[in-house]
Amino acid sequence: MSASGRTGRGRFITLEGGDGAGKSTQAALLEDWLTEGGRTVVRTREPGGTALGERIREMVLHERGHVAPRAEALLYAADRAHHVETVVRPALARGDVVVQDRYIDSSVAYQGVARSLGADRVRAVSDWAADGLTPDLTVLLDLDPVVGRRRVAAARGTLDRLESEATAFHTAVRDAFLAMARAEPDRFLVLDATRPVEELAGAVRARVAQVLGAAA
Ligand code: TYD
Repeated sequence: MSASGRTGRGRFITLEGGDGAGKSTQAALLEDWLTEGGRTVVRTREPGGTALGERIREMVLHERGHVAPRAEALLYAADRAHHVETVVRPALARGDVVVQDRYIDSSVAYQGVARSLGADRVRAVSDWAADGLTPDLTVLLDLDPVVGRRRVAAARGTLDRLESEATAFHTAVRDAFLAMARAEPDRFLVLDATRPVEELAGAVRARVAQVLGAAA
């Protein structure tokens, strides 16, 4: 791995999964646990996580009408480039733990596979945007997209542009995440998102403890 791919003194933990899988709930619980344990945590997300990123997020999620798939992929990549350089890398250099809702795997699953732009090409664009920064751990909260959509609709009442895609799109996203997890079993922790919240939090903590213990 190149020097730019290493996470410095800190640890970079990402959460992935379909909409409604409970990523933000688990991110919040993980942040609380890490903070209680004396770690400094930066909890963040993509798209968003910076002022520029929040504007990109608004564009990509709430633009009415058609957005060219390549434009969509590049907007997520632009958000990522700015976020990694201005938020994630500085935090890792300080020795903080970054807990992040979505990262490159989301681009590969949504734009690369579900939008058919090509997993390898989209990963290459994202890797370039992030200058090669890879997570130490990725927690995949796996959920049937029909259940996920029901959860989002019940919690929020409205669906954004991506959430409104057909079930087949979200099934492709789910399958893509699972395939990535199979290909990189050391990086991924795959959890059944229908399990009780506290049980999931316990499983995440156990794995994060290992990651924190490894060659600090
Ligand atoms: P998310 O923040 O999880 O949505 P919410 O806060 O509404 O739960 O993600 C926003 C959407 O963006 C989600 O549908 C997945 C999509 N997305 C991509 O398509 N590609 C990407 O690279 C990222 C980061 C997200």
